[in-house]
Amino acid sequence: PDVDNNGFISKDELTALFRAANLPLPGYRVREIIQELTKTSDQLTLDEFTQIVHGLKSSEVAKTFRKAINKKEGIFHVAGTSEQSGTQHSYSEEEKVAFVNWINKALEKDEDCKHVLPMDPNSDDLFTAMGDGIVFCKMINLSVPDTIDERTINKKKLTPFTIQENLNLALNSSSAIGCHVVNIGAEDIKEGRQHLVLGLLWQVIKIGLFADIELSKNEALAALLRDGESLEDLMKLSPEELLLRWANYHLEAAGAGKINNFSSDIKDSKAYYNLLNQVAPKGDEEGIPPIAIDMSGLREKEDVKRAECMLDQADRLGARQFVMPTDVVRGNPKLNLAFVANLFNKYPALKKPENQDFDWSSIEGETREERTFRNWMNSLGVNPRVNHLYADIDDALVIFQLYEKIKVPVDWDRVNKPPYPKLGSNMKKLENCNYAVKLGKDEAKFSLVGIAGQDLNAGNRTLTLALLWQLMRRYTLNILEDLGDGQKVTDDTIVSWVNDTLTHAEKPKISSFKWSPNTVSEVSFIDLSGPLYCI
Ligand SMILES: *[C@@H]1O[C@H](CO)[C@@H](O)[C@H](O)[C@H]1NC(C)=O
Ligand SMILES: *[C@@H]1O[C@H](CO)[C@@H](O)[C@H](O)[C@H]1NC(C)=O
Ligand SMILES: *[C@@H]1O[C@H](CO)[C@@H](O)[C@H](O)[C@H]1NC(C)=O
Ligand SMILES: *[C@@H]1O[C@H](CO)[C@@H](O)[C@H](O)[C@H]1NC(C)=O
Ligand SMILES: *[C@@H]1O[C@H](CO)[C@@H](O)[C@H](O)[C@H]1NC(C)=O
Repeated sequence: PDVDNNGFISKDELTALFRAANLPLPGYRVREIIQELTKTSDQLTLDEFTQIVHGLKSSEVAKTFRKAINKKEGIFHVAGTSEQSGTQHSYSEEEKVAFVNWINKALEKDEDCKHVLPMDPNSDDLFTAMGDGIVFCKMINLSVPDTIDERTINKKKLTPFTIQENLNLALNSSSAIGCHVVNIGAEDIKEGRQHLVLGLLWQVIKIGLFADIELSKNEALAALLRDGESLEDLMKLSPEELLLRWANYHLEAAGAGKINNFSSDIKDSKAYYNLLNQVAPKGDEEGIPPIAIDMSGLREKEDVKRAECMLDQADRLGARQFVMPTDVVRGNPKLNLAFVANLFNKYPALKKPENQDFDWSSIEGETREERTFRNWMNSLGVNPRVNHLYADIDDALVIFQLYEKIKVPVDWDRVNKPPYPKLGSNMKKLENCNYAVKLGKDEAKFSLVGIAGQDLNAGNRTLTLALLWQLMRRYTLNILEDLGDGQKVTDDTIVSWVNDTLTHAEKPKISSFKWSPNTVSEVSFIDLSGPLYCI
């Protein structure tokens, strides 16, 4: 769309874009959208813009937008439903049982879920219960509080239409919190396609379990630092890595052997026994009575028996979740990871190191914008998952995947792939970053003035965001193009729509559009009070 490649979208370019997009938005509906988005201030922030991408969180807006685009597929779920009818997919019975128990407990007291809870873990209740979207929405809200305004969930006198709305809300919100939801549609959930429901549910649950396993949320994690490491090194670890390190920290204190994974290495329950024993409250904290772990089960000869005894002890800590004895013995990696994460959340048993002058200023939590970008990437299913925006894209592998999402061809033969050699690994990453910048300039025609591979590699916030912003914008515009069918929109429609909106908001009228993307870092908003405007 940025035809003259000056980094701005001029009125003509935008018009051309809308033509190309065939965007059938009647004026009044678009007006409603803009009104909603600009309710709180006269600036349309990047965040607000990204709400559009995230399928419009506010259901009121979403409703009008949905009607407006008059299409079954959504902003995010362009790929539509996944199933060719007739395909059979297997799913894990153990996972189903684990998730059912987890949900039963989590939503036990929720009045809105009384109609389907508690579910029987040994039946197909789960798939029926998820079908109206309520439990799904609740679980999302639980994983990332405030994702869904509960008043927007339809709860009473459900009809196929209101159920559809709930499911859309659940799907949109799942992508907004970083779930990979491409290829899942409302139909899939309504009809209880087991492997898809379980897959999405696991993502939602995992995001909730991992939410606080993060240095910026829990400074006591600094206790896991090893000699010669900085806080930043620690921050780069994924939640899985941190959990493993946490477990080994306690195992070492117990004088027990290290583990390398939560699968084969925990099968005999011995590591778990030691872990429980270490983290159980010792009575040295006021108001928390000690719980002495009974280790006698270690003497059991049979693995399953031992696992059963171990889980009885976990139960005393209120942490017997996700695994059955057989899941421990078989080393089910997913369920054991969840078990350990839950244990961590309940009893981290870490003390923030005293008398160490760490530079905590380098450990800022992420900004809303950064989180938006990160969730956006993850919702597209990039691999590896991005846990830390800058550190996890320092080899540009994720950027290349995003280029492919916006139809910029990547020559994968040119790309260095992990594992990188110990020596000179950064050189390999830097080469990738240089190529990523080149693709942006030459192929995507982005405005990347003053941005070099080095900046991505070193995680320069400002410059990295400038690239990501353009990637996300292009992605959004492409989607709008894909969505387009039905009535055409002319210049006048757009201009008068904006005029009307601004009149409504008592703002100066406008006669042209401008959009400045490459200044996103300093000016991360599009000023509606001046002659800047953006959809
Ligand atoms: C969710 O997104 C779809 C597009 O995926 C949109 O049509 C729908 O209106 C949205 N629903 C809600 C409730 O946000
Ligand atoms: C959902 O989020 C809202 C706002 O944070 C909160 O009031 C509500 O209790 C949450 N619901 C659940 C089930 O966590
Ligand atoms: C777990 O780690 C052990 C070594 O401690 C290794 O032998 C085993 O193959 C690993 N299992 C998995 C599933 O990665
Ligand atoms: C990031 O790049 C900008 C522009 O080159 C520069 O001004 C800034 O100092 C850099 N930031 C860091 C942390 O290097
Ligand atoms: C929008 O407002 C400008 C400035 O008042 C005016 O020149 C233009 O004709 C209006 N356009 C439409 C389509 O209403």
